[in-house]
Amino acid sequence: MNKGVVGAIGLLLLGLTGMAGSFTAAADELPAWAFVVNPPGGKPPADDGTLHHVPGSDRAFTLSQLRDLFNVPDWHRDDHPPMPDVVAHGRRPDVYACAFCHLPNGLGRPENASLAGLPAEYMVKQVEDFRSGARRSSEPRSVPVNFMIHSAQHVSDADVRAAADYFSKLASRQWIRVVESAEVPKTHVAGWMLMPSEHGAMEPIGHRIVEIPEDVERTELRDSQSGFIAYVPPGSIDRGRILVTTGDGGRFAACGTCHGAGLEGLGPVPGLAGRSPSYIVRQLFDLRNGARNGTWSALMKPVVSGLSDDDIIAIAAYTASLGR
Ligand code: HEC
Ligand code: HEC
Repeated sequence: MNKGVVGAIGLLLLGLTGMAGSFTAAADELPAWAFVVNPPGGKPPADDGTLHHVPGSDRAFTLSQLRDLFNVPDWHRDDHPPMPDVVAHGRRPDVYACAFCHLPNGLGRPENASLAGLPAEYMVKQVEDFRSGARRSSEPRSVPVNFMIHSAQHVSDADVRAAADYFSKLASRQWIRVVESAEVPKTHVAGWMLMPSEHGAMEPIGHRIVEIPEDVERTELRDSQSGFIAYVPPGSIDRGRILVTTGDGGRFAACGTCHGAGLEGLGPVPGLAGRSPSYIVRQLFDLRNGARNGTWSALMKPVVSGLSDDDIIAIAAYTASLGR
């Protein structure tokens, strides 16, 4: 997306927040590579009845089955414990199956969030914040976040508890390969994420993180064993390490104080290690501009207020690089 379009979105948000008067996303230019928006008018391919397969699974699904928000295509049933009903099927008509987006193994995709191994109490609190409106996205056109909010508004407390217990017990594991590189594949947006464009075409990374599937076809089939690759700017991982472990020499609290040693989580505070850098960048923007404003977000306010956009990129590069 070019500068002009990003600027126009900034103006649009300014207008919206001016009317709603509730949060100040306006001041920020949102990084379009993290707050990805599908181009308008795209139509998903029609289902011609073909059965699709992925490596390591004896199951087969049609395109309609793969798109069913109330019946998760579970390619690898041995990878995870039995899913609670709400995780596998949701509740018609308003609660979509949690694992459709977050995947049965909880590792998630760049356009949503990994949930594997997060504290259950933290997840319950986040669903409450989505429900109350305290947690939104700075990008109001994000259909994935809007579907999350819609589900949160209709899901029962018992279902939230069952889902949170399920995802909290799943092991987080290496899912995103982080690579420092000055040159990255050219990308376009499809399916609410960045996708590599022409075969082999490259461009400078600039001030971005470019997170794309390791295998486009397997990701499109929602294969929960095919992960992602995140290109980050040269030097960003070390810069992020200094910011995270020293609070940039005391400018703000070191992240491990609350997020735990190795950023693996501490009590109800979520882990950050090995999670999608696009997701982490979005959260730091949302926390900084107030789109995410739950009661616990107050603890992050003093931290994010001092972070520049480049600090945020470096932090996300580092946290994603912490292997599990
Ligand atoms: C349509 C896709 C979709 C479905 C279905 C969905 N979510 Fe989400 N979920 C998201 C997105 C998108 C986000 C937030 C990403 C962001 O803010 O950038 C999210 C965020 C979350 C978070 C916050 C994670 C964190 O680290 O703070 C929790 C917890 C969560 N979802 C739980 C659930 C539960 C429980 C269900 C089932 C009842 C569910 N989700 C169903 C898309 C979905
Ligand atoms: C004083 C405690 C504290 C410190 C220090 C702190 N955090 Fe947090 N952080 C929290 C809490 C609590 C939350 C949950 C906020 C909410 O519920 O909205 C959080 C949430 C986050 C999230 C969103 C996670 C998710 O799953 O959505 C990110 C990203 C994050 N912190 C990054 C950092 C980084 C990077 C640092 C250091 C530069 C840091 N935090 C320092 C307490 C802290």
